[in-house]
Amino acid sequence: MSESITFKVQPGGSLNGTVRVPGDKSMSHRSIMLGSLAEGVTHVTGFLNAEDAISTLEAFRAMGVQIEGPVNGEVTIYGVGKHGLKAPKEPLYLGNSGTSMRLLSGLLAGQDFDSTLTGDKSLSGRPMRRVTQPLALMGAKIETQENGTAPLHIKGTKNLKGIDYTMPIASAQVKSCLLLAGMYASGETSVTEPAPTRDHTERMLTGFGYPVKREGSKATITSAGKLTATNIDVPSDISSAAFFLVGASIAPNSDVTLQHVGINPTRTGIIDILRLMGANIEILNPREVGGEPVADLRVTSSELHGIHIPEDLVPLAIDEFPVLFVAASCAKGETVLTGAEELRVKESDRIQVMADGLQILGIDAQPTKDGMIIQGGQLGGGEVVSHGDHRIAMSFSIAGLRANAPITIHDCANVNTSFPEFRDLAKQLGLQLTSV
Ligand code: S3P
Repeated sequence: MSESITFKVQPGGSLNGTVRVPGDKSMSHRSIMLGSLAEGVTHVTGFLNAEDAISTLEAFRAMGVQIEGPVNGEVTIYGVGKHGLKAPKEPLYLGNSGTSMRLLSGLLAGQDFDSTLTGDKSLSGRPMRRVTQPLALMGAKIETQENGTAPLHIKGTKNLKGIDYTMPIASAQVKSCLLLAGMYASGETSVTEPAPTRDHTERMLTGFGYPVKREGSKATITSAGKLTATNIDVPSDISSAAFFLVGASIAPNSDVTLQHVGINPTRTGIIDILRLMGANIEILNPREVGGEPVADLRVTSSELHGIHIPEDLVPLAIDEFPVLFVAASCAKGETVLTGAEELRVKESDRIQVMADGLQILGIDAQPTKDGMIIQGGQLGGGEVVSHGDHRIAMSFSIAGLRANAPITIHDCANVNTSFPEFRDLAKQLGLQLTSV
């Protein structure tokens, strides 16, 4: 269990230098899942050695998969094939990781053994009906708590049947869950998304040689396929790079280059939104690595201005709003976010928690049902709480760059779920951050 950690940031400063942030969390999860189900040995480089990805890795070890690493981002997975997983002896504890729980629920629904998925306090409060309801339509047998939360008790069945499902929310986790279940279902399983969401599952399935049909907003899979082991180079996580994209934009005299960042178009909403606000971000040396677009990102200081964030960019920047709220606080004028009610059911209620913290720091930040209205102003100092949410902790750290007094952020241990190197890299670039 992680101990309590408090961050303290001294006000001001600038960010300068070149860094490579850790591997993409979404792709790291999927590399373990698909590598485990593949035939042969999969080598992963750039794997994210952080608590969430390790939760997935440990779950597959508990189901009999031999996995070596991570050592310096390298993981070797001795795939057991699509039907080779073994019943776990104990409930699978998935910590803080929503991606692990939602994707595994689909995968485990079609196994010939039962399983139970549990998580920490935050994960145990998050909505799971978004996956259990469509899985039930496929014939899955999953018991949740009365309010639709974990623990999930999954009774494996060989009788899943394909469905043609239109998701009521734009969720890559729901889409991926159903595609993984579809690998074990009779007939076709199709998922239509109301707006584009991250497509790492579809791309990685293709990389492992498993057929997935993609027509517009619909992805279709069947059980007729197998996964063949491959090598995966996980690029840096744009959701971790986001803290420095905002930091270098808001702090004067900054010039930061972020190397080897994944710029899959379903993830680049942060770049589009910051550019609309007036940021200077250059995309350098774009290339393709293992079916995913990658580039180096150079960002220099800019005078940001408020905007109404286009709703079609919301799913493409869904994890970046905490730090975008900090950008909006430093921008000239008003920034309005709408269509983002999903933020209320992330690791914390990110609308409420960020509005509360920004108000403590002297910013006029008004939460709304599905977003926030922020008037740019002068960030002050003060004490804020991250509510155990990694991205809230890192966002308030970045706010220090434009504050006029120190900011103390309580409850920061969960930074280890996605970005354990944050403190070191932030300090290396120039953030005056200490932790106790
Ligand atoms: C993820 C999808 C997103 C995102 C999460 C990771 C994924 O969740 O917020 O951090 O890896 O599929 P939703 O699909 O629920 O929006």
